[in-house]
Order: sequence, then structure tokens, then C-alpha cells
Amino acid sequence: MINSNYLRILILVGLSLFNAALCFEAEDLFVPLEAEPSVLSEANLNENDADFWRKNAQNFLKEVLEDPEKKLKPKKAKNIILFLGDGMSLTTVAAARMYLGNERNSLSFEKFAHFGLSKTYCVDKQVADSACSATAYLCGVKANYGTMGISAKVPLNDCKGQNDPSKQTVSIAKWAQDQCKETGFVTTSKVTDASPGGLYAHIANRYWQNDKDVRKNGCDPSETIDIARQLVENEVSKKFKIVLAGGREEFRDSSVLDEEKKPGKRGDNRDLIKEWVECRNKQGNATFVHDKRGLDTIRNDTDYVLGLFNHGHFPYNLQIVEQKLAKPTLSEMTEAAIKHLQRQNNENGFFLFVEGALIDKAHHDNYARFALDETREFSKAIELARNMTSVDDTLIVVTADHSHTMTYNGYSKRGGDILGLNTAIGLDGLPYTSLSYANGMGYYHTYNENGSRIDLSIYNYSNPFHRYPATIPLLSETHGAEDVGIYASGPESHLFIGNYEQSYIPLLMAHAAQIGPFATDDGKCPASTSKTILPNISLLFLLILSTFIKS
Ligand SMILES: *[C@@H]1O[C@H](CO)[C@@H](O)[C@H](O)[C@H]1NC(C)=O
Ligand SMILES: *[C@@H]1O[C@H](CO)[C@@H](O)[C@H](O)[C@H]1NC(C)=O
Ligand SMILES: *[C@@H]1O[C@H](CO)[C@@H](O)[C@H](O)[C@H]1NC(C)=O
Ligand SMILES: *[C@@H]1O[C@H](CO)[C@@H](O)[C@H](O)[C@H]1NC(C)=O
Ligand SMILES: *[C@@H]1O[C@H](CO)[C@@H](O)[C@H](O)[C@H]1NC(C)=O
Ligand SMILES: *[C@@H]1O[C@H](CO)[C@@H](O)[C@H](O)[C@H]1NC(C)=O
Ligand SMILES: [Zn+2]
Repeated sequence: MINSNYLRILILVGLSLFNAALCFEAEDLFVPLEAEPSVLSEANLNENDADFWRKNAQNFLKEVLEDPEKKLKPKKAKNIILFLGDGMSLTTVAAARMYLGNERNSLSFEKFAHFGLSKTYCVDKQVADSACSATAYLCGVKANYGTMGISAKVPLNDCKGQNDPSKQTVSIAKWAQDQCKETGFVTTSKVTDASPGGLYAHIANRYWQNDKDVRKNGCDPSETIDIARQLVENEVSKKFKIVLAGGREEFRDSSVLDEEKKPGKRGDNRDLIKEWVECRNKQGNATFVHDKRGLDTIRNDTDYVLGLFNHGHFPYNLQIVEQKLAKPTLSEMTEAAIKHLQRQNNENGFFLFVEGALIDKAHHDNYARFALDETREFSKAIELARNMTSVDDTLIVVTADHSHTMTYNGYSKRGGDILGLNTAIGLDGLPYTSLSYANGMGYYHTYNENGSRIDLSIYNYSNPFHRYPATIPLLSETHGAEDVGIYASGPESHLFIGNYEQSYIPLLMAHAAQIGPFATDDGKCPASTSKTILPNISLLFLLILSTFIKS
């Protein structure tokens, strides 16, 4: 198909003078306009018909016009659910559509009424980590890389800085609790990891998850309280009615084996899970569960639930399902958490945070298949949540904390395998994949020891542990800096349109629910029927927004 001698000549004459010509030739060569017939599947055949696209657009418009959410009736959100796809870049979303089977598919949250973008940089870095960004989208304040629940006045690793109340940030979970809402969270990472930690912890290093790790940085664990202890002891933590996650290892001593015979990581001989149960039992009925069965059989008169289903982060969803592991999936945990919060029958409603944490972990390893599958599961959990709640009283916001370096590139044919080889080839005469990374361990599956590219057709792309090509060798693929999507459905979801700082997100949610800075009668816990928002509050909000726009 391609004349490789011609190719070599082209490469040889690749001097700067010829660069423009080379690019032109390359494009002509590899994307011939008289391409072979397209490989549209049965389902896509009608795309050849212009009317198909016109009718599609008409239907979309009809849906938009009939959508009660788009009529912008100001309404108070009784419940808020914030879904965080860790590292769920827009590229990840686009590739996940194809993973669902067809380019025309949408993930559940892409059908939400309103969409915006957020700028994710943190105070000291262009590219955010999950800790500084959690401080932004949960507390409304941008922070330093690696720090969580504190302002940028506290530098990374400042042992005592996190204890200064004037430098601590308050999360939307606290704002919700102050208005007597129920609160809880779900994640597939460790319960002490960066994203959920933003709800309850104040920490100058996100990796201080147990006392030993605090010591490693030369801090005294009796002064610098680790994140696991903060989940037991902090005031916000005490009010969480349900917490479902991984990460048992941060709660028990290294001499103690957990329910799956894995050792703890602590050095202080404490059993913080036991302490959590004892402490919460003084407030109501509390229970700890460690597997799916335990989660399924929680008594309905339980007030406080702690479910830690793995020693560390969760295994990938594909592993849970294929190996029938005794662990709940993200959507099963989401369902359990919503049911539990609804069962409290609190007329003030609830705030729930749900994180699909493994999209990020998979990207860091260049495991594109796992990343897309985790995105599919995340989308399912959101669909379930929308089904279980009413758009009249429950605001659902879906976003990501930062991007990743995965690209979805080349001119692959419609219907082509998103996880396989592209149909085109590189100037070196070798094929490439539709998905690839700017950096990561995939480098070693991309280049041989002489620095020339490996023939990528030798790999088995059905293996979810296959690392996708990467240009720069790194132990862990990095985050990306470009904006991420924000998808909103429910009361006041129209506030979320536009392109703005990530740190506005909790403020917008607080406005919708009239909590935090927008609470009207602080401490009295107003029962929330769906009454309209008072005009003076709207004015206050506009005032704040206008100061943002000026800056
Ligand atoms: C709670 O469970 C008991 C049985 O275990 C059942 O009789 C009762 O109706 C349940 N209550 C609610 C509110 O679901
Ligand atoms: C706690 O559970 C017990 C049964 O174990 C039940 O009798 C009691 O009503 C529960 N208390 C609360 C406050 O729900
Ligand atoms: C949500 O509801 C729709 C419509 O009833 C249904 O088709 C879909 O399967 C539900 N989704 C989930 C995840 O339960
Ligand atoms: C790398 O270069 C060396 C020396 O030219 C050669 O012996 C070896 O086969 C090359 N390796 C590959 C994978 O091409
Ligand atoms: C490719 O990987 C899949 C999944 O790991 C495995 O089932 C299959 O046997 C592999 N195929 C080959 C040819 O090794
Ligand atoms: C808004 O108006 C209500 C009633 O008119 C009043 O009670 C409340 O204090 C006002 N809030 C603010 C922030 O002005
Ligand atoms: Zn990450």
C-alpha cells in the first residue's frame, strides 16, 4: 500500500527547507482522499443520508425545548450529589463513547441540561494534582500542589501550618452539615486519598495518611495529625452518615492483618476502625463493613456506616466483575449511599460526594482500556443516581479534577477499535494506536533500546494491562493542564455554564442549595421545600460573580 523506499527518501530530505513540503506530502500520503469504502456498521448506515443528520438535529432541539430544566425556573436544591471523575479529561470522555460501542453514543452525564468548563491549575503549579484541586472544587479555594484543606499560605510539608484555623478551608460538606443536611461520600480510592480528603482533612502533604508517613517528613504525629485520624476525629468527619471506600491499611498497625490478611501501615498500634465504631456508636447505631455482603445486609436502623472494601485503592471494575471479587462496584456503592441518605428521611436533604478514582490511576499506568472502562462505570453510577432522585430537588454536578496526557488521534475509520491500531501508519512505516500518551511507562512498549519505534502490531490490545504508547519515559504518566468539563442537572444547573475557575464550583452548588455563604437562617436548619430563591440572595451572588469576572 505504501511505498517504503519513497518514505525513506522523504525522511532523508527532511531538512528544514523541506519541512513544509514534507508535511504536505505526508498528509497526502497517509490520508488519501480516495480512501477505501468506509466501514459503517448496520447501525450507522443511515448516516449516509443527509436527512438523518437533519432529523437528529431536530430531535435534539425538540428535547432541548421540552426540557423543563432549561426553562430556568429558579429553584432551591434540597440535595446535592457531586460526581468527580478523577483525571476524566474531555479526551477520556470522547474515547469512552467509542468504548460504549459507537461514536454517536453519549455518556449518561453528557445528556445533562447544562455544561461548562473549569480551569484546574493550582496556586503554585500549572498542572494540578488531586489534592490542590480537591481544595478548589470542594472548598472553593485554590491551594498549593500536594496540600489539601488549607490555603496556599501553608507550603507543602509545613508540619504545623495545617493546624492554624485561619489557614484551614471549609468544605461544602461542612456547609451542608451546618444546614442540617445529611452527608456522606463514596470513592474507589483509599478513603484517605486526595480527592475525598478534601471534604474533611487539613493536611500539608496529601501522603500523610498514617502516623508513619507523617514521621517520614520529620513531623511529629502527635502534632501533625494524619489523614486517617482526621477521618475519625474531625468535627466534619463525625457527621458523615455513610463512607464507602478502600484503604483499610491506613487505619491499623503494621503488625495487624486485615480481613484479607493484608498488613496495616500504622506505627502507633491504634485500630482506628475500632475507634471509629466506638466513637460513632455514642452518636447512634454505627457499623463497619468490609465486603459486598456486609454492605448488602446493613440493618435499616443503622445511622453511621463505614465500609472499607480493600486494603488499598480498589481493584479495577473489570477485575471485580471478571474475578467475581467480594467487593461492591462504584454504582453499587453509589446506590447504597443514596438509599442510606434517603432513609434518614431528613427534610433538609443531603450532600453526597462520589468519586470514580481509578480513571486517574489507570491513566497514570497508561492502561487506556482500564481508564475507559472505569469511565463507563462512573457514567453508570451517575445514571443510577439521576434515576433515584428527582430533577426537581436534586442537583447533580459531574466534573473532573484535572486532565491527563492521553490523546485520541489519527484518522481512524468510523467503527474502528478505539483500543486498537489506527488504520494509518507513521513516517517510519509502522502502525500506531488511536490512543497514546505524552509520557509514562508505555514508553518501553513504544521504543526499543536504540530509540526507534517498535512495531505496535505485535501487542495484544485485549489485555487491559497493556500500556499504550508514550513519548517520554516516566514511572507515572502525568496529569494534563487543559480545562475539564462540568455537567449539571437539576435545580439551578444553568449556573454551571461557561468557562471559569474550578474553585467557583462549590460556590455555585452552595448558591443552588442556599448553604454556606448563601445560607439564610444559619443554624436553624430550614426545612427545604422547593421554594424559589429570594431575590436578595441572587443579587448577592451576581455581585460575587461580577467580582470574579473582573479579575
Ligand atoms: C427495616 O427492616 C425491617 C426488617 O428487617 C422491616 O420490617 C422494616 O419495615 C424496615 N424499615 C424500613 C423503614 O425500611
Ligand atoms: C440501634 O439498633 C438497635 C438494634 O440493634 C435498635 O433496637 C435501636 O432502635 C437502634 N437505635 C437507633 C437510635 O436507631
Ligand atoms: C435509568 O432509568 C432508565 C429509564 O427508566 C432505564 O432505562 C435505565 O436502565 C436506568 N439506568 C440505571 C443505571 O439504572
Ligand atoms: C540496536 O542496535 C544494535 C547495534 O546496532 C543492534 O545490534 C541491535 O539489534 C539493535 N536492536 C534493535 C531492537 O533493533
Ligand atoms: C489477549 O489478551 C486477552 C486478555 O488478557 C486474552 O484473553 C487472550 O488470550 C490474549 N490473546 C493472545 C493471542 O494472547
Ligand atoms: C434576604 O431577605 C430575607 C427576607 O426578605 C431576609 O430575612 C434575609 O435576611 C435577607 N438576606 C440577606 C443576605 O440579605
Ligand atoms: Zn492522578
